[in-house]
Amino acid sequence: MTTDLLRVDPDNPDPALIERAAAVIRAGGLVAFPTETVYGLGANALDAAAVGRIFAAKGRPATNPVIVHVADVSDAVNVTAEWPATAGALAARFWPGPLTLVLPRGPAVPDVVTAGGPTVAVRCPAHPVARALIRAAGVPIAAPSANRSTELSPTRAEHVVKGLAGRIDLILDGGRCQGGIESTVVDMTGTRVRVLRPGLITSPMLEAVVGSIDSQREPSTSTIARSPGQMAKHYSPHTPVVLVAPGAEQRYGERVGLLQNMPDCPTAYAAVLYDRLHELDWEGYERIVIELPPDTADWAGVRDRLMRAAE
Ligand code: TXA
Ligand code: MG
Repeated sequence: MTTDLLRVDPDNPDPALIERAAAVIRAGGLVAFPTETVYGLGANALDAAAVGRIFAAKGRPATNPVIVHVADVSDAVNVTAEWPATAGALAARFWPGPLTLVLPRGPAVPDVVTAGGPTVAVRCPAHPVARALIRAAGVPIAAPSANRSTELSPTRAEHVVKGLAGRIDLILDGGRCQGGIESTVVDMTGTRVRVLRPGLITSPMLEAVVGSIDSQREPSTSTIARSPGQMAKHYSPHTPVVLVAPGAEQRYGERVGLLQNMPDCPTAYAAVLYDRLHELDWEGYERIVIELPPDTADWAGVRDRLMRAAE
């Protein structure tokens, strides 16, 4: 299949281009599009065959459920069986934005989206291109990150081209994603809100809205990967990654790529992390060496991705 590439203005996308992409979604095809976190690979979430094509294109195991992207809270209510007050409060505070809520699944959602499980993950993205695409398509859009399974998420259209050209219908190129790491995923089905995947919406930010949260990560025992990235390898460059303590005096040699001159602030660090890892990966080093940032709540998302990259 040939993959079309359309350049769109990230702040003010041309409705004619968005409509072209929306038509592909309605016809059961696959469109990669920018979000404020990373690029997503979208299909009509209510069309089981279309969502099946996402899994085929990515080489994604059928046991790993995908996030349903919606335009607003009423769309989210339509794909869920329950919409608790805590979900309403978190959505009111953080949507549109990089927060994914796991809730009991509504009857319209096909099995392939939830990996056959009883819950569905929903997110209302903030990126103007993502929002315009969902609205124009007129359906919720199932979208994992637009990379081959286990590889680094894409933060530029060029990354999507490298991973998925020839395997998907269309790429909307809206330039670099600002957030840089995937959304925070929270489980809303228990008595307390629980973080399944840390991200730019930190635990203290969640606690400010819903009170105390359960920060215990779930052990990877269930067949359905309830917690993202529970697969042995995830978010990894091809080059092996080694994590070191800050300030460790070491001689790394010539064939070692150092992730260096990174920002001191976690959001600024996250914004460039995958971009820099993609670059280092293409340089063909023997190893990539990274200093692990401090073990504090605001670095949790970045540390999580670094540790997965090194697995
Ligand atoms: O920022 C993001 O979240 C990006 C953009 C495209 O929205 N998407 C993304 O999707 O990172 P993906 O599929 O690469 O990661 C979503 C994770 C999956 O690893 C999956 O395990 C988890 O969310 N997930 C999806 N549905 C779930 C569910 N029902 N229960 C628990 N976890 C779920
Ligand atoms: Mg992913």
